[in-house]
Amino acid sequence: MSGMEQMLVENRVFNPPKAFAKQAAITSMDQYKAMCKAFDKDFNGTWARLAKENLFWKKPFTKVLDESKAPFYKWFEDGLTNASYNCIDRNIKNGMAKKTAIIFEADGGEVSKVTYQELHDRVATFANGLKKLGIKKGDRVVIYMSMSIEGVVAMQACARIGATHSVVFGGFSAKSLQERIVDVGAVALITADQQLRGGKALPLKTIADEALDLGGCEKLKHVIVYKRTGGDVPMKAGRDKWMHDVSAGQPKVCEPEWVSAEHPLFVLYTSGSTGKPKGVQHSTGGYLLWAMLTMKWTFDLRDSDVFWCTADIGWITGHSYVAYGPLACGGTQIVFEGVPTYPNAGRFWEMIQRHKVSIFYTAPTAIRSLIKASDTDPAVHPKKYNLKSLRLLGSVGEPINPEAWMWYHKNIGGEKCPIVDTFWQTETGGHMITPLPGATPLVPGSCTLPLPGIMAAIVDETGGDMPNGQGGILVVKRPWPSMIRNIWGDPERFKKSYFPEELGGTLYLAGDGAIRNKKTAYFTITGRIDDVLNVSGHRMGTMEIESSLVANPIVAEAAVVGRPDDMTGEAIVAFVVLKGKRPTGDEAKKIATDLRNWVGKEIGPIAKPKEIRFGDNLPKTRSGKIMRRLLRVLAKGEEITQDTSTLENPAILEQLKHAI
Ligand code: WTA
Repeated sequence: MSGMEQMLVENRVFNPPKAFAKQAAITSMDQYKAMCKAFDKDFNGTWARLAKENLFWKKPFTKVLDESKAPFYKWFEDGLTNASYNCIDRNIKNGMAKKTAIIFEADGGEVSKVTYQELHDRVATFANGLKKLGIKKGDRVVIYMSMSIEGVVAMQACARIGATHSVVFGGFSAKSLQERIVDVGAVALITADQQLRGGKALPLKTIADEALDLGGCEKLKHVIVYKRTGGDVPMKAGRDKWMHDVSAGQPKVCEPEWVSAEHPLFVLYTSGSTGKPKGVQHSTGGYLLWAMLTMKWTFDLRDSDVFWCTADIGWITGHSYVAYGPLACGGTQIVFEGVPTYPNAGRFWEMIQRHKVSIFYTAPTAIRSLIKASDTDPAVHPKKYNLKSLRLLGSVGEPINPEAWMWYHKNIGGEKCPIVDTFWQTETGGHMITPLPGATPLVPGSCTLPLPGIMAAIVDETGGDMPNGQGGILVVKRPWPSMIRNIWGDPERFKKSYFPEELGGTLYLAGDGAIRNKKTAYFTITGRIDDVLNVSGHRMGTMEIESSLVANPIVAEAAVVGRPDDMTGEAIVAFVVLKGKRPTGDEAKKIATDLRNWVGKEIGPIAKPKEIRFGDNLPKTRSGKIMRRLLRVLAKGEEITQDTSTLENPAILEQLKHAI
């Protein structure tokens, strides 16, 4: 049975542990239903109440939701607020100055901590330093850093002065970084000399230099460098400054820039079904509200918790559940620089033990790789560690297969921790469909039910409702505060991608397929319905990889598809036609390696195809369209049973059947 088939017949049910339910913010399905009902009865009024209760408003909003320019929705627009004030100052005013905000564990194991007061001072001095450089409200700042307290400080400092940040994951290449700097029109770049991962120092600043040398970044005046390793990096006079020098001597008071709730807090690039990554633009007020509410509802965060989300700040999960959500709720959290397998595959469990982590949130890929590691090396089996501090587990980024769920439940959660399988996206800003740990009976492999206020549904190709038990297209029927506001600089693409006319123009199209259980109405996500792959929880566009392959001078044509992979969820398979002769044997192997490295350099190592096959041509229809459907079958190693009579060149299938 495939992982998906298994999920659809899964019928084990795990009720919320009584002890958990008793103390939880949402303690029963009745309470959940009442919350949903409140939205049904008074949608705007309920959101308004939550926004007033949860955020600090310098000037209160008078209008909740503006739908006049739908799908360009506006929430709380005339309210003034500031994300950094809400995440830091407000907690200090509430007596939490001395509370630990961040426990940072470095790759090599060194631990450092900052309190809310210390975080405030670092953010305020750096924010003042940015202002002194002339960076102001509305400017865009690209952040290209690895996991660090300074990374969070950089994001918070931008938020404080009203500059819109755009974090680029530290694993992206110079070219990817340059494209994002150009697209967002950044005036400054904040980076680090190097990053440490698994005991190795990897470059950041030299890649940043390469990116800027590619041209088109004329607006960018400042490169600010956090000294992480002290490694030798060139500094360009006039342009480059050390982060500590920017902050040095600056006052610890920095009045926040009070911005409209609709002010863009950040732009985060993600892959779509066409070549160019999309700059997903998020708001300030609505975004932060949902980051807070989901911390409270999904993670049931309390004052005494030690929260650990393992995601990098380069992804949306690291925005909502590292840089903003936990701080906005006054929580204590872990920020981890390294990798789960260094110095050994017990690192996560050892850290949970060391820091007494109570809420742990990670990706299925990490769980699956650690299952494998603990099977082969008993020394790093979770039972060697004291994990009793845990009370709640979470999963994000891709479907979690029931086997991995059960292992997580048993070996990490000690059969007493609920698991929240959170379905959401870069575009949604925060969780959408997820269990509530004190209320929802869990079924492995199902993200269960939409959060209150989220009108998720399954429809057919024309936007008509599908009955439970029948698969279809996942949509959201009403706007919600933390939804994407625009694709940076491309409103037409925003409308087309997310509110397509085919579905009537008012439904938010997630891009995933889903099915609801006949009896429970629980959702199971069945995977992307567009040309987006999910490899180890990272979103990759097939077209993006194809364009990078054909940019290589030896490549004539390329088609990229996904194939199910036990470890990474999906794996990238590329079918390539060279300009010269089709290579075989060792030559094919060598060219495949070269092309993989090429893609690594063009986009980043996460985009490297797992497998490359060469053909004299690709299977095409008579009108010249590549039949990706057939390539998917070949990539899986299955026999083609579909009709191939419309193919121009059916003989090519035989050639592409075999791996090199
Ligand atoms: C997938 C990550 C199944 C889905 C937060 C979605 C999931 C894409 C889950 C978004 C889950 C995320 N179960 N699939 N719990 N969570 N996905 O933008 O295909 O990096 O559309 O956001 O990941 O990926 P993104």
